Amino acid sequence: MRRFEGRTALVTGAANGIGRACAERLAREGASVVIADVETDAASALAASLPTALAMPCDVTDSRSVEVAVAATLDRFGRLDVLVSNVGVASGVRFADTDDAEWDRQVDPTLAGSMRVIRASLPALLESPGGGAVVATASVNGLQAFGGVAYSAAKAGVINAMKNLAVEYGPLTRGTVGQDGGWVRFNAVAPGTVETRVWTSDAAGRADLEHMAQLHPMGRVGRPEDIAAAVAFLASDDAAWITGVTLPVDGGLTVGPLLHMPGGS
Ligand SMILES: NC(=O)c1ccc[n+]([C@@H]2O[C@H](COP(=O)([O-])OP(=O)(O)OC[C@H]3O[C@@H](n4cnc5c(N)ncnc54)[C@H](O)[C@@H]3O)[C@@H](O)[C@H]2O)c1
Repeated sequence: MRRFEGRTALVTGAANGIGRACAERLAREGASVVIADVETDAASALAASLPTALAMPCDVTDSRSVEVAVAATLDRFGRLDVLVSNVGVASGVRFADTDDAEWDRQVDPTLAGSMRVIRASLPALLESPGGGAVVATASVNGLQAFGGVAYSAAKAGVINAMKNLAVEYGPLTRGTVGQDGGWVRFNAVAPGTVETRVWTSDAAGRADLEHMAQLHPMGRVGRPEDIAAAVAFLASDDAAWITGVTLPVDGGLTVGPLLHMPGGS
């Protein structure tokens, strides 16, 4: 499939993990891809491995940095069709110990950062022939209580923002029904546990991963590629009549309590 031939995609947090898999998937399907990340060496290495890509230093907590990344995208590729807003910051700090600084450390990049990137990208996305598409990486934490109040509340905020933006920038509100562009679709994915460095960088995290596999009815944790496949679908014309939704990509984690015994009937 080459669903993004001739199109440009900007992916934030693209140097590692889920963002990296999204960038690789979109590139494989023909997109020119902007790898926007604070880890500039990893971003450059990834960009060099893709057919048409640009690495951009980008910190989503800094409006100016985000604006520069979007401007560089337009400079280099002349258009922006797809935005994957993927940065999120979690921590194991308990709620009682979450002071204002810790709250901001998680919520600012996760929620406000996502809004900064969307706001800066909107004028270009509205120019995209056929309509622009935004896909945000939310989390199952934004849907149900899996722990981590600040992170979860921020992800729930992202999910709600996608709904409101879907209406505000849909063809009906924009007065562009039937036109080839002038509107943007907004969707999110809500990953379950995905094997990235967030988990694999220490022994405790790796042990957690083994435990988490038993909570997902599919019997394994996710791979970054599982999430990238869903992101590419929602960003593509295959999802032309889908906007404002959050698609759980979670191996069944959120379908309900896991009451069945493994191997039982
Ligand atoms: N891994 C999981 O189990 C899981 C589950 C649900 C949701 N998510 C979400 O998926 C997204 C990606 O997570 P991941 O597991 O791939 O993490 P990761 O650490 O592998 O990758 C995150 C990337 O974001 C970049 N980044 C961090 N802060 C940034 C900032 N301020 N500006 C720009 N880039 C920044 C990092 O440099 C890194 O390249 C996050 O939003 C996370 O909340 C992850």
